Amino acid sequence: MSLAGKRVLLIVSGGIAAYKSLELVRLLRKAGAGVTCVLTRAGAEFVTALSLQALSENRVYADLFSLTDESEMGHIQLSRSADLLAVVPASADLIQRMATGAASDLASTVLLATDTPVLIAPAMNMRMWLHPATVANVATLRGRGVAVVGPEDGDMACGEFGPGRLSEPPAIVAAIEALLGSGSTELAGRHALVTSGPTYEPIDPVRYIANRSSGRQGHAIAEALARRGARVTLVSGPVVLPDPPGVSVQKIETAEAMLAACRAALPVDVAVFAAAVADWRVENVSAEKIKKTGPAPLSLALVQNSDILATIAGAGENRPRLVIGFAAETSNVTGYAREKLAGKGCDWIVANNVSAASGVFGGGENEVSLVTPEGVEAWPRLSKREVGERLAARIADALRPLRG
Ligand code: CTP
Repeated sequence: MSLAGKRVLLIVSGGIAAYKSLELVRLLRKAGAGVTCVLTRAGAEFVTALSLQALSENRVYADLFSLTDESEMGHIQLSRSADLLAVVPASADLIQRMATGAASDLASTVLLATDTPVLIAPAMNMRMWLHPATVANVATLRGRGVAVVGPEDGDMACGEFGPGRLSEPPAIVAAIEALLGSGSTELAGRHALVTSGPTYEPIDPVRYIANRSSGRQGHAIAEALARRGARVTLVSGPVVLPDPPGVSVQKIETAEAMLAACRAALPVDVAVFAAAVADWRVENVSAEKIKKTGPAPLSLALVQNSDILATIAGAGENRPRLVIGFAAETSNVTGYAREKLAGKGCDWIVANNVSAASGVFGGGENEVSLVTPEGVEAWPRLSKREVGERLAARIADALRPLRG
């Protein structure tokens, strides 16, 4: 019962593969999940609400403007009451509406009105899948942290062969299990500190120095740790992301404020420093807005910020048992990571390539290597959510022998 107690809102959109959604409902129920279905108008051309209702043993929702549906459970409540929204199959049309933020029917409205994790399993003709419009829409969704399962290569209902087949229901269940974690309590009683996002270093009252960090990776790690039962303090720079569920979030702007918030969070069992902290701050922040009519060229004197990771790693008795840093590099990634491991006094370094070509900064995916004193482990390219899950699982393993 890997999904015991989890609630999945299954959105079934149009396409011949919609018949597989019935098997998916059966497997999710078998794994212990509660399933509620939303059926789009096109989806209803391929499967019936009655079949989904019988298998899920829950009412099926189809109409945004139905008085009965809205009085029983409004569209906002539908997504709030789920741990995951799974769109299976996800048609090219629904993917396009998700990417543009449409709210044109119940399914798209629920997807727009949610901050719950979303997974899509696309299924369509291969030319539709390979069309630049779909490629761009899927990239947009990935960039927002939506998990994408498949599609697979294979014979298609239209007689062609290529990518576009819906992944098999067991593979979709496995992806849902990975996203929802085991719901375990393996980190119960542990306190975790995570830093995330950029820092803003003020120049004057209206200007600041910042960087392109989105905070997605740090937030995903915080969420994954909380899902495993840890008490999580997330110290975050300015990001546009929602607060991860079950996490205590401290919002700060500057590196020095981030350090103060981290110190205040101690003692912790594990600290993960995923923030892209500004190395420098302006020495004399102007109290007035700097005018362009002033002396030119304008030069700003910068002084170095404290290294938060190195400070907390050297916190003596207060040092967390496990200190994990990130090394964002554009070349010689593992080489620099090894140097940082020693230089900053941390236990592990998650090294990632943030060169412009990698698309990592600001994107939805990450390709990292875990560098420990034992060696370097290269992980495949994964969504930032999956990197968070893997890292949380490793943290749980590492803290286990120390228990008691
Ligand atoms: N870090 C930190 N405080 C800082 C700078 C960095 O806590 N003032 C942390 C980051 O959160 C990350 C790790 O240190 O976990 C590595 O950061 P990175 O920017 O890659 O390294 P730097 O120390 O800034 O070195 P360089 O810029 O020379 O690569």
